[in-house]
Amino acid sequence: MSKKIESHLTEDRVFKPSKEFSKKARISSMAQYKRMYQESIDKPGTFWAREAKELGWQKKWTKALEWKAPYAKWFVGGKINVCESCVDRHVREGRGNKAAIIWEGEPGENVTLTYRQLQREVCKFANVLLARGIKSKDRVLIYMPMVPEAAIAMLACARIGAVHSVVFGGFSAESISDRLEDCKAKAVITTDGGYRRGSIVPLKANVDEALKRYKDVETVIVHQRTGDKVTMKKGRDVYWHEEAAQVSAIHEPKGFDSEHPLFILYTSGSTGKPKGILHTSGGYLTGAYTTCKYIFDMQEDDVYWCTADVGWITGHSYIVYGPLANGVTQVMYEGAPNFPDFGRFWDIVEKYSVSIFYTAPTAIRAFIKAGDEFPDSRDLSSLRLLGTVGEPINPEAWMWYHEKIGGGRCPIVDTWWQTETGAIMISPLPGCTPTKPGTATLPFFGVDAAILDETGQECRADEGGKLVIRKPWPSMLRTIYGDKKRYRDTYWNDYDGMYTAGDGARTDKKGNFWIVGRLDDVLNVSGHRLGTAEVESALVSHKVVAEAAVVGRPHEIKGQGVVAFVTLKGNAKSSDALAKELRNHVGTVIGAIAKPDEIFFTPALPKTRSGKIMRRLLKELVETGSVSGNTTTLEDHEVIAALQKQVSGK
Ligand code: WT7
Repeated sequence: MSKKIESHLTEDRVFKPSKEFSKKARISSMAQYKRMYQESIDKPGTFWAREAKELGWQKKWTKALEWKAPYAKWFVGGKINVCESCVDRHVREGRGNKAAIIWEGEPGENVTLTYRQLQREVCKFANVLLARGIKSKDRVLIYMPMVPEAAIAMLACARIGAVHSVVFGGFSAESISDRLEDCKAKAVITTDGGYRRGSIVPLKANVDEALKRYKDVETVIVHQRTGDKVTMKKGRDVYWHEEAAQVSAIHEPKGFDSEHPLFILYTSGSTGKPKGILHTSGGYLTGAYTTCKYIFDMQEDDVYWCTADVGWITGHSYIVYGPLANGVTQVMYEGAPNFPDFGRFWDIVEKYSVSIFYTAPTAIRAFIKAGDEFPDSRDLSSLRLLGTVGEPINPEAWMWYHEKIGGGRCPIVDTWWQTETGAIMISPLPGCTPTKPGTATLPFFGVDAAILDETGQECRADEGGKLVIRKPWPSMLRTIYGDKKRYRDTYWNDYDGMYTAGDGARTDKKGNFWIVGRLDDVLNVSGHRLGTAEVESALVSHKVVAEAAVVGRPHEIKGQGVVAFVTLKGNAKSSDALAKELRNHVGTVIGAIAKPDEIFFTPALPKTRSGKIMRRLLKELVETGSVSGNTTTLEDHEVIAALQKQVSGK
């Protein structure tokens, strides 16, 4: 970012929460927000200790924060069992018969688990894990659809101090084996299959495939979801229900150190393989809990629904740990938003009287396209608060969400955060913050966010720069699993002692943060981060591909779509059939979300004289159809001219 970016986008519409909403909200005025924010920045120890105390610790900490950049320790010396804080604590406090999870399967069946029932299931499964020899700090990979057992499996791991790593059910066998290899997992928890858009995803078969490559898994526990026949390897593979039938439903939760590892979650970066983001216990839970409490304004009688998958960080913080730490009732849905049609989400809202609804801009855009008749024909009057996450929300989608789903009465919290931050960092507080379509507004408590230029100076209002966080926060990542150097290089290298998010952003004159998007080679497809390098290496792993370059192109629903430029080896011939084969190949290596929308075959890629692929030119080409930018460093000008013809000719 050598040039300063001035912004001319202005948004004049301002929406304030109704008096009625504010009156009942946990934070009801800007004065209250400002007072608490100031305290959280000036005296983080005092502020966070007050919040953390509510979580039920087995031993109190001696020091709230120990910060030796870039390593933070929160609630040093404290002992907590994250699972007991999310489950048993509520049973103890009188919420035993309150619904914790109301689950609906895609085919339509539903199951309600009260906090007491959840406790029973979690204890049993913790005992199953122990019986299978899983110990504290062992890594357990979870590869499951959106069924309550996914949450139970995560909580049971936390309960015995094992470290879970959830892999999104849409990822491929190769993605599983890469992650198994990286974290050296001892066990895998999966299901026979899962329902998605009417068909069955063969999860166990994918695990079998992955375990041909990674052989150190001792136990595979299979929950029966579909009842389909799967192969079970003797001695290694067991059924969840059979094991659970043999153990006690009582398990005493032992307290673990506040910095005990809780989970590893893989996320894409600009280079190489996905990064295993490590989160720990006390600080993470405090972040997830506090953000739910204040940003989703969770109250005793709310019915909360987050439509994310447990395979992403949103599912960790805002389906499992945050909502359960708050003792709220939540809806969990297994399937696709458009099954059997685009009315499914609104049916669920109506059926269970959902009051707080959290989804992604990409889903909202798909709903807009599907037509207003779907929400119009349902009763959405139970809703009181809406949220979005994953990418900047375009003002049209914001307005539609506000009017069609929120009936003009529900505040919208546009929440900015990342896998690394563990919890929401920038967001309105629904009872006080004036919102504007397109901005995530103001930093949450304890978040010292700023926009800096190349030299480390703070940018002026409306001037674009890099988004950084200047102080440690409780739910921050602790490292990249097994790679301290990459942790430092990726997040802490730009400015001394500050966390760089990798996003470009600006603030307006009122201090609202407008997130522009990623500054690195990372795409945001349907709200999910995908490294261009990852897709490229998947393409190059195909036997006929010599070289590949991947860029993002604006996409109406997905936000960004993947476009690939491919050169072939020797005498391989390009064809539509080959393009299809390569798309499927990427699907096999990474997962369907990474499949390129379009593949251009080219005899050569535009490179600098030193041999670096000039993705910037390719990006401009797919965005505008031509290249006007600086091409002086280009080695061969013919290449770009030929590509220009090809791209615009399509
Ligand atoms: C990246 C993080 C955090 C859960 C979802 C994805 C983008 C996220 C917003 C938002 C603008 C957003 C950023 C960020 N992003 N939320 N409200 N406004 N951009 O988590 O996969 O770790 O991706 O998503 O670019 O860096 P993730």
